[in-house]
Amino acid sequence: MRIFNILQRTRQTKGWIHRNAVMGACVALILAGGIGGYMALADSPKYIAANVTLHTSGAIDKNDLLSGQWGYLPGSKQEDGGLLIKPDSFQIVKQDGSGGQANPPVNEYGTHLENATDFTITAQLADVAATGKAAMQLYGQVPIIADEFRVERKSVRVELDGNNLNVNLWDGSKQTAALTQSLPLATPIAKDARLEVTHAAGKIQISVNGQQVTEIDDSGVFADGFVWFGFDATGSSFKISNLDAKGVGAATFKTADSSTLRVQRKDPNGLQSLAAKKRSNFTVGAAMALPPTVSDASYANAAFGGNFGALTTENAMKWQFIEPQQGVFDFKEGDALVQLAKRHDMKVQGHTLVFGEANPAWVRNLPAGQLEAAMTNHIKKTLTHFKGNVYSWDVVNEPFSDDQWDQFRTNIWYNAMGESYISKAFTTAHDADPGALLFMNEYGIEEDGDRWNAFLALVTKLKAGGVPIDGVGFQSHVYQSSDKIDPAVLRKHIQQLAAIGVKSRVSEMDVYSDDGQSVQASQYSAIFQACLDEPGCISWTTWGISDRYDYFIDDDGSIQQGNDFLWNDKMKPTPAFGAVQKLLQ
Ligand code: XIL
Repeated sequence: MRIFNILQRTRQTKGWIHRNAVMGACVALILAGGIGGYMALADSPKYIAANVTLHTSGAIDKNDLLSGQWGYLPGSKQEDGGLLIKPDSFQIVKQDGSGGQANPPVNEYGTHLENATDFTITAQLADVAATGKAAMQLYGQVPIIADEFRVERKSVRVELDGNNLNVNLWDGSKQTAALTQSLPLATPIAKDARLEVTHAAGKIQISVNGQQVTEIDDSGVFADGFVWFGFDATGSSFKISNLDAKGVGAATFKTADSSTLRVQRKDPNGLQSLAAKKRSNFTVGAAMALPPTVSDASYANAAFGGNFGALTTENAMKWQFIEPQQGVFDFKEGDALVQLAKRHDMKVQGHTLVFGEANPAWVRNLPAGQLEAAMTNHIKKTLTHFKGNVYSWDVVNEPFSDDQWDQFRTNIWYNAMGESYISKAFTTAHDADPGALLFMNEYGIEEDGDRWNAFLALVTKLKAGGVPIDGVGFQSHVYQSSDKIDPAVLRKHIQQLAAIGVKSRVSEMDVYSDDGQSVQASQYSAIFQACLDEPGCISWTTWGISDRYDYFIDDDGSIQQGNDFLWNDKMKPTPAFGAVQKLLQ
């Protein structure tokens, strides 16, 4: 049973917080105690599908991997002599801002190995500080970022930590490492280290500077034939001066570059292809993240093959991803998504600049008097970087409270600046990129009542005061039957906004399936139709593509997959897809 079904529904507790607050608590348990396993994913399809073109080199038995694509690895910098790995402390914080699960970067948009069975990977690391940590993580499956937590799938992590080597292995059955070792090194590292990981005959051997430190069972980590690379530094930087792969014995592999991903065919019956014929200025969008787009061909086909004319960056442009430390910006994942969108003639809906969640610890710990400067700097740097490439921004996200339905949310921004943070954020964004459409995004405003009245009054006041707000995003999460949206009421709200010169979009729609797929389908299609029929509604976006990557925490603390999207776990279109497609035909 899904968490939100067992909670007593009140108006104040409905919506996103409802689902996530409980999740957060359960996740904390999982991460701390390691309770519960999670369902194995359906078998990953082969990466290269008929209409996905991916560059692969011929099968070779040795490779200078650094000569490939590493330009999009977060926290890294390409320099003479190698790839610098900086201690950028990427984390995923919980919804209430506490915690912070490590989110070590993975070279998702770039060089990796395919069809790799038995191999040796050798990384030459330079400038390893005795006081810092230097890690290489080899992934058989890329991790998925879910609701405020990262789902580790299959990987082996090798970390130099002073005089020790820490080894962790995730086998895909649970969140905690199935194996953890901390082993003393015979010879302490003096500046340089050569890490060697050999996978052969079901075993993984790990050596440092030519001396084998451990041998472990592979637990099927590399069973899919993929090797994705991740590097991260703690405390001080280090440099990878050489990275090499070779087959063991007769074994071969291919190097591949996921940054060349391109879906060539736009299905004329795809949702965006059809919508364009109904309304040339209407966009069908989906929230997207890099891991599934680059590692799952059927997902990539659904994402880029004619269904969507826009992507919303689900997490990649949130504060904790792009400014993990004060003044340290990392736009790499966002850049990769921008590039994928451009290559497929899609717009980018930037999400999100000023939000009470997804803020790194340094932001949450700033003295109130410094928050305004941090906020305006963040907006300026981000919009300047993405200028011309991001069509619209969710400038302010969820400004209203979860429990006092018609009151402002007392997040760090409100506590520091009062409601003026909202107009300041919009004005700063407009100055930085006058060409981008600027939105305020909120949940629970689809229905009539105090919240909507307060929200509309705020937008009216902002408009009248000359604040550059272009539109409103109706998140439209339907997590339980009481969240169901009445299309007539939504249309009325869109018209009220149009009357004051404000555009609307359905920005994050997803629908629970516990009442059956036909109920789910009719809710999806009714809201799509409402938006399509209103000239003031410029786009409809769903908060994900496939149930395959829709994770949540169940009552017993285990991680489960949801059934909320237009494609199911097998990447087959659900009745909801059919219903939306039908109304467009
Ligand atoms: C969610 C993402 O989907 C998760 O992956 C992340 O861990 C937490 O945030 N309203 C919003 C989005 O505006 O930012 C939220 O996205 C969903 C609710």
